[in-house]
Amino acid sequence: MCGIVGYIGKREASPLLLNGLRRLEYRGYDSAGIAVLNGELSVVKQKGSVGDLENALQKSGDLLSGATVGIAHTRWATHGDPSDRNAHPHLNNAGDIALIHNGIIENHAALRLELTSHGYTFNSATDTEVLVHLIDRMWKDEPSLSLEGAVRRALRHVEGAYGLCVISSREPGTLVVARKGSPLVLGLGDGEYFVASDAAPIVEHTRKVVYLGDGEMAVVTADGYTVKTVENIETEKLITELDFELGEIEKGGFEHFMLKEIFEQPDVMHDVMRGRVRLEEGRVRLGGIEDYLDRLKQAKRIVICACGTSWHAGLIGEYLIEEFARIPVEVDYASEFRYRNPIVGTDDVVIVISQSGETADTLAALRAAKEKGALVMGICNVVGSTIARETLCGMYTHAGPEVGVASTKAFTAQVIVLYMLALALSKGRTISHDEIALNLKELTRVPEKAARILELDSQIKSIAEIFKDAKNFLYLGRGYNFPVALEGALKLKEISYIHAEGYPAAEMKHGPIALIDEDMPVIFIATRDSTYTKILSNIEEVRSRKGRVIAIANDGDQEISRLAEHVIYIPQATGPIMPLLTVIPLQLLAYHIATLRGCNVDRPRNLAKSVTVE
Ligand code: AGP
Repeated sequence: MCGIVGYIGKREASPLLLNGLRRLEYRGYDSAGIAVLNGELSVVKQKGSVGDLENALQKSGDLLSGATVGIAHTRWATHGDPSDRNAHPHLNNAGDIALIHNGIIENHAALRLELTSHGYTFNSATDTEVLVHLIDRMWKDEPSLSLEGAVRRALRHVEGAYGLCVISSREPGTLVVARKGSPLVLGLGDGEYFVASDAAPIVEHTRKVVYLGDGEMAVVTADGYTVKTVENIETEKLITELDFELGEIEKGGFEHFMLKEIFEQPDVMHDVMRGRVRLEEGRVRLGGIEDYLDRLKQAKRIVICACGTSWHAGLIGEYLIEEFARIPVEVDYASEFRYRNPIVGTDDVVIVISQSGETADTLAALRAAKEKGALVMGICNVVGSTIARETLCGMYTHAGPEVGVASTKAFTAQVIVLYMLALALSKGRTISHDEIALNLKELTRVPEKAARILELDSQIKSIAEIFKDAKNFLYLGRGYNFPVALEGALKLKEISYIHAEGYPAAEMKHGPIALIDEDMPVIFIATRDSTYTKILSNIEEVRSRKGRVIAIANDGDQEISRLAEHVIYIPQATGPIMPLLTVIPLQLLAYHIATLRGCNVDRPRNLAKSVTVE
C-alpha cells in the first residue's frame, strides 16, 4: 500500500528520500514521486518503479538538488489509474504547496465539487488532490495562518482516512504531518527528522522514533518537533527505540525477500518461543497476557478476527484452542465482523491477528469489539503498531520485519503463538500438566523439522518446473491441514497469478470434483493423522478422474507413493503441530512456480503488504 517518506535537516534531501522509497517498495505500489524545497517547490513524479523515478531524476539534471527538506511517496492506486498525473506529490494550482497522502478521503467528491465552484482546477483523478486545494483555500481565506494552521483547518472538512505530509515554499523550513487511520512514524535524528509510513526507511538513520496516534499532527523543523491533536491540544509523546536492525530488512544473499523469509523460519520459530516455553517447568509464560489470563480462561467464547494469511492462522487457532482449552471459538473475516452486527459482549474475548498491526479491516473489527465491551487481545508482528497499541493485552510474534508481500514467517510465528496460547488457556482446566509438557516438547522440535523440510527445496523446485504452466490448482487437506490448504492456495495465487482453490478434502465431492481432469494438479496434504485413511480415499477419487496428484506426506509412507505422482516427504509430528510443517513445502512450491513464470514475487501485481484502506 502507499508509502510516505519525509525529511527535514541539514543533508541533501533527494538521495535520502529516494533511498527511503526503496525501503518502502515491499509495500506494493505503481507510481512514485518526490517534491523538495530548494528555493522553490520542485517535483518529479511518474508511473512505474522507484528505479524509473531515479532515472527521471538523473535526466532532470539538478532539478532537486540543494534541498534539505522534501517529501516522497509510492502510490498504490485506489482512485484513478496508475499514471504520471495521479502519482503523488500533488500540488495546489499556484504550485507552492505539495502534499503526499496514504488512505482514502471519503467525501472527496463533494469537496471536489465545492473547490471547483471556487475556481480550483484538478489535475488528477485522485481523492488526494482535494486535500492540497483545501489547504490552499484555508490559507487564502486567512493568510495570517501558518502552514500548520491551514492544514489543521482543512482537516476539519475531511472525512476518511489519512496519513499525510505537506511542505510549502511559503514556509520552507516546516514539514507538517497528520494521521487518522494511516500510520505515520517520526524518526528523531541529530539535527534532522524523518517521517515515514513505517520504520523501514528510518532505521538506518536513527533508532529513536515517535508513533503518531490517530487524530494527531506533528510540525517538524530542523530544530525540533511538536505533536498536537488536530484540535490543537498539545500531546506528550513517548520516544520508542526501534527493535530491529537494517540487515533484517535487506535480502542477505537471497534472490527475493520471500525466499529469505521462508528460510528464516527455523530461527524465527526459536525466537517466538524464546523465554516463553519453559520446558523444565512444563508451562508457557506469556508476559503480554499474564495479567489477563484468568479472564481469558473464563471467556464464554473467543472470536478471532483477521484477514488473509492471518485469518488462516486464526482458523488453526480455533482448532488448537477448542482442542486444548475447550473454549468455543469462532473465526471471522475482520472485514465482515463489524458489518454484520455481531453478538459480542463483556463475556467474550476477541483476538485480532495481524502481521502488520495496521490492517484497516482488522483495526475496525478491534474497535467494534471494544465498543461492545469485549476483552480485546492482539497478536501482532510489528512492535508499536496501531493494533498492538489499541488492544488491551496481547503477544508479539517476534518474526522480525516481514518484507515479502506474501506472508510466510509471520504465519508460522502466529500459529506458534496460538499454540502457546491454547496451552496456557488449558492449564489447570482441561489438560494435565504432563500433557502440556508433552505438547510443549513437540513444539520445541519444530524448528529442527522445519530446517529438514527446507532441505527439500530443489525437489520442490523440480515439481514446480513440471506444473508451472497449469491454469488452476486445487489444494486439499483435512483437520489442522485444511487451513493450510487455504494458505497454500492463497500463496500460489497472490504471487503466480494462477487460479487456486483450497478446500477441506471431503468437500471436494460436493462440487470441486467437477473440475478434475488431466490438466488439474491437486495438492493433497496427506499426513498421518486421524483422517489419513479418508484422505487416501479422496486421492483415489481424484486419480480415477485423471487428476494429477502431488502429496505432502510423512516420512516412511509407502502407500502414498503408489497413489501420488509426486510426494514431498516431511517429518512426522502430532496433528496440532502439523500446520507448522506442511505449510513450508507449499510456500516453496508457490515461490518456485512464481519465479519460474517470471513473476516478481516480492512485488506482486495489485497487492500491498499492509492494507491500510477498507
Ligand atoms: C498474505 O500473504 C497476504 N499478503 C495478505 O493476505 C495478508 O495476510 C492480509 O492482508 C493481512 O495482513 P496483516 O496480517 O498485516 O493484517
